[in-house]
Amino acid sequence: TAFKETYRPQFHYSPPTAWMNDPNGMVFYEGEYHLFYQYHPHGTVWGPMHWGHAASADLVRWEHHPIALMPDRHGAIFSGSAVVDRRDTTGFFGGGSGLVAMFTHHATDADGAVSQRQSLAYSADKGRTWTMYAGNPVLTDRRFADFRDPKVFRDEARDRWGMVLAAGDRIMIYHSPNMIDWTFGSEFGANEGSHDGVWECPDLFELPVNGDETRKKWVLIVSIGAKADRPEGSRTQYFVGSFDGERFANDAPPESVSWLDHGRDNYAGVTWSDVPETDGRRLFVGWMSNWMYADRTPTEEWRGAMTLPRELALREAEGRLTLVQTPVRELGALREAALRLEGGWLDPTAANPFEGFALDRFEIEAEFELRDASEFGFAVRCGEGEETLIGYDAANGSVFIDRRRSGATAFHEHFPCRHDAALSPRDGRVKLRVFVDWSSIEAFANDGELAMTDLVFPAPSSRGLRAYAKNGGVRIASLSLYRLQSIW
Ligand code: FRU
Repeated sequence: TAFKETYRPQFHYSPPTAWMNDPNGMVFYEGEYHLFYQYHPHGTVWGPMHWGHAASADLVRWEHHPIALMPDRHGAIFSGSAVVDRRDTTGFFGGGSGLVAMFTHHATDADGAVSQRQSLAYSADKGRTWTMYAGNPVLTDRRFADFRDPKVFRDEARDRWGMVLAAGDRIMIYHSPNMIDWTFGSEFGANEGSHDGVWECPDLFELPVNGDETRKKWVLIVSIGAKADRPEGSRTQYFVGSFDGERFANDAPPESVSWLDHGRDNYAGVTWSDVPETDGRRLFVGWMSNWMYADRTPTEEWRGAMTLPRELALREAEGRLTLVQTPVRELGALREAALRLEGGWLDPTAANPFEGFALDRFEIEAEFELRDASEFGFAVRCGEGEETLIGYDAANGSVFIDRRRSGATAFHEHFPCRHDAALSPRDGRVKLRVFVDWSSIEAFANDGELAMTDLVFPAPSSRGLRAYAKNGGVRIASLSLYRLQSIW
């Protein structure tokens, strides 16, 4: 396809046709970033799951590959992970190296009972073709109906594999010498964090604090499913703490909740395995939708897209550790400079600095110095009765996205909404970085301290943009606008 259909993301990954949900099996191997994903090739709603496959040399431009894993006699292929087995710990590669995927086989028996069991598949040709391990499944536990989404990682300190998976209301932690035989370590979380939905898609990895390699912390990401009485739908939380190979200990009080993203559309995200040490980045991608309305979004040929790949970091400020997200620097290759201001002023009577521009895919990077405006920010994808607002509410100290008039919103009662998340100015300043595509907004505030990701479905003709301030003024310290090239 030409990838020019209405709402088709122009610089985000989406499948050529049909339904996609979670990103799976992200792994870097021999120069390629692999991205597998939950895929139902025979429809635009969720169905028997396969693993779709794409790969990229730069995390920006993606090549579509044939389906990697298909349902077999053990069931459909639910979410999971992939790693490079460098020293053939599995014995799958005749002493060489290759890729091993660990995922959930999901099946429903004749009486309607669900089974979720963990299985392996391997590839000796850079992920192009896969073989199911003959001894599948490798891990079962009949106590849990929900028992899925294994994320394997190399536990370097103990020279073995570690693995986390979701079991309803908790995370189970295991270890193994060979990915075939797993030993239970401990469980975490039945009384921690948010339980506003079933726990899914965990990830556990170590990050330096403020870039200091001598001071590291473990981060546990946990997605939580949608609950009928929650207008937020599905969301992703994280915990920061320590890990001893068997046990994860949360640094924060059990009742505190940290959200990875404050928008509605960043779910089931996990990180890439095996990014070279010389690179050192921890790279994340999420599914840019929400179980609350994922099967109703107004696209036709395909459904579902990924967030931009983001680099994760831990930043400590005022005694608090925050998981910080920055879109990968490679995306800079898509920029075409359109406007640059080194200073300026915005108030209700000021001219719109974006006057004359009509854009439907672009990036804005801005730094503001607070004055007396009660609110300021950007209106994007503006057209006949349509606009999406991304701004800072100075009166409440919060970043917000307002998509109530963003375009097609009627497909679900909770889609049209405005949501806020608290953000303190730094030295009286607020930075906003915003990526706008044909059907999404990603906003990052104060260098990624806060992320907000939201789908929007504006008319293709809604291409107006403006910067605004309300009830007073705000100083523009700097403002850049970039057109972004399409990756397709
Ligand atoms: C998360 C999830 C996973 C599961 C997959 C099924 O979005 O529910 O827990 O493995 O989707 O497609």
